[in-house]
Amino acid sequence: MAGAANVASPDGRVTVDVNLTADGSPVYSVDFAGQRVIDDSRLGFSLVGEDALASDFELIGESRATFDETWHPVWGEEASIRSHYNEMLINMRHRASGRLVDLRFRVFDDGVGFRYEFPAQQGKLKSFIISDELTEFAIPGDAVAYWIPGDYDSQEFNYTRSRLSEIRSKMDEAHVGGPVYPSPSSPTGVQTALMLKYDNGLYVNLHEAALYDYPAMCLDLDDTNFIFKAALTPYANGDKAIIQTGRTTPWRTVIVSDDARDILASRITLNLNEPCRIADTSWIHPVKYIGVWWEMITGKSSWSYTDEVDNIAIGTTDYTTLKPNGRHGANTENVLRYIDFAAENGFDGVLVEGWNEGWEDSDATRKSRMFSFTKPYPDFDLERIKKYAADKNVKLVMHHETASAVTDYERELDNAFRFMVDNSYESVKGGYIGEIIPRGEHHYGQQMVNHYQHVVEKAADYKIMYNAHEAVRPTGICRTWPNLVSNESARGSEYHAFSGINPGHTAILPFTRLIGGPMDYTPGLFENDLSKYNPSRNAWVNSTLTHQLSLYVTMPSPLQMAADLPETYEKFQDAFQFIKDVALDWDESVYLEAEPMEYVTVARKAKGSDNWFVGSTAGVDPRKSKIDFSFLPKDCKYRATIYRDGKKAHYRTAPQDYIIETKTVDSKSSLTLPVASCGGYAISLTPINNL
Ligand code: NOJ
Ligand code: CA
Repeated sequence: MAGAANVASPDGRVTVDVNLTADGSPVYSVDFAGQRVIDDSRLGFSLVGEDALASDFELIGESRATFDETWHPVWGEEASIRSHYNEMLINMRHRASGRLVDLRFRVFDDGVGFRYEFPAQQGKLKSFIISDELTEFAIPGDAVAYWIPGDYDSQEFNYTRSRLSEIRSKMDEAHVGGPVYPSPSSPTGVQTALMLKYDNGLYVNLHEAALYDYPAMCLDLDDTNFIFKAALTPYANGDKAIIQTGRTTPWRTVIVSDDARDILASRITLNLNEPCRIADTSWIHPVKYIGVWWEMITGKSSWSYTDEVDNIAIGTTDYTTLKPNGRHGANTENVLRYIDFAAENGFDGVLVEGWNEGWEDSDATRKSRMFSFTKPYPDFDLERIKKYAADKNVKLVMHHETASAVTDYERELDNAFRFMVDNSYESVKGGYIGEIIPRGEHHYGQQMVNHYQHVVEKAADYKIMYNAHEAVRPTGICRTWPNLVSNESARGSEYHAFSGINPGHTAILPFTRLIGGPMDYTPGLFENDLSKYNPSRNAWVNSTLTHQLSLYVTMPSPLQMAADLPETYEKFQDAFQFIKDVALDWDESVYLEAEPMEYVTVARKAKGSDNWFVGSTAGVDPRKSKIDFSFLPKDCKYRATIYRDGKKAHYRTAPQDYIIETKTVDSKSSLTLPVASCGGYAISLTPINNL
C-alpha cells in the first residue's frame, strides 16, 4: 500500500481509510467504533474509447476541512438540521495520461459521503463517456439485506429480507407482482437505498445523494465475496454517463449505527445536498389532500370519458361527438362532491385524475403523444369547478400523467404550467407509467434524471409544488428544490388494489425509500375489502385501520393524501378525526423504536404548535410497544388521544377493530400498547392548558 490517507468523524467513531494499491488503484474502507463497515473497496471508472481511470494513479495532493452549520429546511422532519463533518479531498493523477481525478470524503458521526470530482484540466480531459463506474462496497460477511431487485425502470416491488448469499436464489420470487416490463441490472442486482444488518448488530444503509446529470445507481452483488459494485442505469446504446470536466458525480453514502433508530434520524442525505436555490419560498406549503383517485384505482370508475378508442387524435378530436362511458370519475358533479368533503373536513386540496383528454388510448405500443395537459374532458366543467373550489377555499391538485412521452411533455411544459397558474392550481402530481419514449431509454438513466430535474426547476419558475410518480427515487434534492414536495418512486399503497403489498412494507420504507426524501405513499385506506368498491376486484388492504393512521407520522410528507373514498370516511368519523388533526410539517422528530421490516415508532412536534403526534407501524408480528413520553416538555400535562388496535384486531380477520381512548400524560409517563399483526397506533397530544 502506498499513499495512505484517513479521516475520522467529529466524534472519532466513523473512520475512512484511502489507499493506493501497488498498481495505483484507489481503494477505501470504512469503520465504525472499531468495527468494519466496508472492507477495502475499489474506486474508479472505465471510459468509452479511452484508458480506464481505475489504476496507475499517484496521489498529488490532499487537503482537509471541518464544517459545522445548522440550517433550516423549508419543510421537513425538524425545523433545524445540523451538518457537522470532517472533509478530506484527495487529488490523484493518472500517470499514463496525466489526467486528474479528485476524491472528496465527508465523514459525519453517522456515516460517510464520497464522490468523484473531475477538475477542469487543460488539454488532458474535456468531455468523456463513462462505460462503467467501478465503485465497490465490500460487505464484511453474509449480512442480512432488505432489498428490491435492481431495475432501471421501476422501484415498485415488494421487499425481500434475506442473507446476501440468498439474493440470487430469491430473485425470481422478488419479481412476482412487479413491473410488467422488468429491466434488471443483473441476477444479483438490488436497488438503493439498500438497508443491511450485520451479525455484529450494525445497521448500514447504502444510497446516493444529490443525483444530478448522472444515471441512478443500482448495486450488483458478487455473491461469492459479498462485494457490491455500482451498476449505473445505461443509455439505450449501453453508455452510462456523458461527463464534462468541472463536474462531479453524486455522493455515494454509507450511513451506519449500532441502533436502527439512528439510520432514520440521519440527515446525511440532505446535508450532502446544496442549500435552497429558490429565493422566495413563501408559496411552498404543506398540502393535505383527497382525490378523485381511489375509485379509479379500485376500478369503481374510469379515468377515461369514453370507451371509444379509435379515431381519436389528441388536440383535434371533438370529444362531444363521442359516447360517454357513464363511469367517468372526473365528472363535474363528482368533483364538486369531493370539494364539499374537503371543505367540510379542512383539507387543502382535491386531486382530480382523468380530467384531461387522452385517457382512453392505453395502447402500450404507441410511439408518441397521448395526453393533453390543457384540454378538459367535456363533462369536467373547469370554470364551474374552479369557482366552486375558490368559494370553499379548496385548491385543485393538477395531474400530469405523461405515460413517459417525455419529449412531448417537455414541449408542452410551459403551456401545461401556464394553464395551472391561470386556473389557480398550486401543485401537480406527475406520472411516468410505461416505457420511456424514445424507446430504449430507461426511467433512471442520465437523460431522464435530467428530465425530472428540468421539470422540478421549471415548476419552481411558475411557483408550482411538484410530486412525481414513477420518477427516479429521491436523493435529498428537496433541500435545494423544496418545491419537490414528494415523490412516489416505490411501491405505494395503490398496490393493495393490484398485486398486493406484503406485511412489513411500511416498516422498511422509512429505512430505504424515505432516506432520500418524502413519499406520496397515499395512506388512509380504511376499507380493506376492495370488492365492496368493485365486485370484480378481489383485493384486500393488508393492514389494520389504525396502522393506516400511524403512517401519517411514520411516513412524513408535506404533501399527504387521505386516499380512501369520502363515503368510507363518513362511516368512520371518529378515526378520521386523526387524519384531520395530524400535522404535515414538524419542529422536531424523536425516533422511539425501530427495527427494519418489524416496526417504526416516532414522535413529532407539529411545526409552530405545542401539539405532538406519535405513530407506530408494525409488520406481520403482533407486538407490545412500550414508549415513554420523555420527549414532552417538563411540567406540562397533555391530553393523549390514542387510536389503537382492538383486542381482536388482525390485518386479515379484523382490520377494523380499533379503540379510541384518552389519557392524561406528561414527560414522566410511559405506556405499553398492544399492536396487531400489520397493525399500529397513532396518538395526538395536546397540552391541557391549550384545551
Ligand atoms: C400510477 C400512479 O402511481 C397512480 O397514482 C396514478 O393514478 C396512475 N399511474 C395514473 O396516472
Ligand atoms: Ca406508481
